[in-house]
Amino acid sequence: MNILIAQKDQLPIIHQLAHIIWPPTFKEILSPQQIDYMLHMMYSPESLLKQLENGHHFIIAEQDGKYSGYASYEFNYKNELKTKIHKIYVLPETQGQGIGKTLIDYIENESIKKEMGLLTLNVNRYNKAVGFYEKTGFKTTGVEDIDIGNGFLMEDFIMEKPVSKTN
Ligand SMILES: CC(C)(COP(=O)(O)OP(=O)(O)OC[C@H]1O[C@@H](n2cnc3c(N)ncnc32)[C@H](O)[C@@H]1OP(=O)(O)O)[C@@H](O)C(=O)NCCC(=O)NCCS
Repeated sequence: MNILIAQKDQLPIIHQLAHIIWPPTFKEILSPQQIDYMLHMMYSPESLLKQLENGHHFIIAEQDGKYSGYASYEFNYKNELKTKIHKIYVLPETQGQGIGKTLIDYIENESIKKEMGLLTLNVNRYNKAVGFYEKTGFKTTGVEDIDIGNGFLMEDFIMEKPVSKTN
């Protein structure tokens, strides 16, 4: 599997993958209206470009010419020595094959190079991805409800993993 660093021209790939992965991921957790609202907020072409320009790094997993997942992350999150993982998503048909772990490992290695001490992320409290994060060494360190407008709420856990050179 290859990891591609996405630039502006590759943002449409992320947009497309998100629109395939989000509905099955969140159909039992969020209303269709909230899924549409969040996809627009986080994945419209304008929003993705703004994230890239504001220092979010985007990576894409590619296998045999097919794109199977993506992640985004930001160093020095809130001016601390932390990497915030903003997004990590793998196509349903390729989940469970090690792609998510490979994306986390990549971000962890880049974080070591940048001397970040911690990976941090938010995950919906009802998302089974919590199990994946626990498996890859994250621990729940907080609970956060975030009002994202239009009457919608994100009901999250904060999960963190110390960055370690031995992983
Ligand atoms: C969560 C996600 C990124 C994990 O990626 P993946 O490629 O499916 O996971 P991997 O195959 O790399 O799994 C790595 C390890 O975690 C375990 N794992 C994966 N999903 C798990 C789960 N839901 N619960 C418990 N363990 C899990 C795997 O069994 C594997 O363990 P092993 O090393 O002992 O074999 C992926 O399933 C996904 O995109 N889910 C839908 C989108 C989503 O919820 N993203 C997170 C938003 S915060």
